[in-house]
Amino acid sequence: MKKEFIDPWSSELSGNYNDIVHKFGLERFNLEDFPEPNLLMKRGFVFAGRDLKKISNCIKNKKKFYVLTGIMPTSDKIHFGTKSIIDMMIYFQKQGAETYILVADLEAAATRGVELKQARKRALEIYIPCYIALGLNPKKTKFYFQSENDEVRNLAFELSNKATLNEYRAIYGNAEPPRIMASILQVADILHPQLRKKMPGIVPVGIDQDPHMRLSRDIASRAKKFGFIPPSSINVKFLRSLTGNLKMSKSEGNSLYLLDDDNEIKRKVIRALTGGQKTLTEQKEKGGNPDKDTLFELFRQHLIKDDDKLKQREEDYRNGKISDSENKDYAVKLLIKFMRDFQRKYKKARKKTEKLFKD
Ligand code: TRP
Repeated sequence: MKKEFIDPWSSELSGNYNDIVHKFGLERFNLEDFPEPNLLMKRGFVFAGRDLKKISNCIKNKKKFYVLTGIMPTSDKIHFGTKSIIDMMIYFQKQGAETYILVADLEAAATRGVELKQARKRALEIYIPCYIALGLNPKKTKFYFQSENDEVRNLAFELSNKATLNEYRAIYGNAEPPRIMASILQVADILHPQLRKKMPGIVPVGIDQDPHMRLSRDIASRAKKFGFIPPSSINVKFLRSLTGNLKMSKSEGNSLYLLDDDNEIKRKVIRALTGGQKTLTEQKEKGGNPDKDTLFELFRQHLIKDDDKLKQREEDYRNGKISDSENKDYAVKLLIKFMRDFQRKYKKARKKTEKLFKD
């Protein structure tokens, strides 16, 4: 059998989520296990994970657990798909998780040549205020930079003797020094909250980051001295780009970004891949397919919270009552409304961000 790998440093991936669950031995996500599910959970975008029961038990029994993610500061823009990960962080934060967000400035330096200073600036001026604007509670979140956290770095060095080159080849398919440095550091990021208190932790990730989770779980169980509980993960499907590529990415011209202005929104939505027919007459006759439509994907994941409203629009689109141009106008309207509110919150959050790192 041909071995397949996911490369967390590249954006090429196969889009068949069923295959992925199977091949990588993931658990399927079970909606009933989680109280007060968010849109992504309710609407099937959260599809898998590892050790999810541990976390749902903590939520149900009000036991301590943590949620953690990292910011990769490689660009000045945050694509809209990142909102999904932050929505999951917010969900677990609301369910009582201790919340950690780190800036992966050392990973960015090692694997992408980003200077620490620039990573810092981006994190403080763009990423962190954007995350707060999305609804993350900064007062209940611990933020840190990898380059400034001795505890995490020291842990990484200690844990490095629990990893082998063969394991790297099995998980990643290859092993270059910068990637080894970055991935061991990431394992330390993920496990360090347990140095103070043993508790389950969960990391919301796109499926491209699953190799890191496997490595973290392997190392956690091997490093007996620490008694770490292997971290859980929860996987969110990617938001497709508006041209229909599997994943929004920074290298794609038609990706939507948080903080895009009205003109950019219009330009991108006009060119969006729809589920419509070639002509308006045909559309009225045969109807469109919302499941292929990238704008409906945005509606479902982020823009239409009301289930009835969404259902009605899907039905009208299927029946040919709604044309592509109407649907695009509507998407532009919702996006502009979203961005207005988001920008206002972003500006407010920016003023507070520096203070978060003072102590
Ligand atoms: N490797 C992650 C990325 O490319 C960034 C990261 C570093 C991270 N440490 C982490 C993500 C810990 C989750 C948990 O985006």
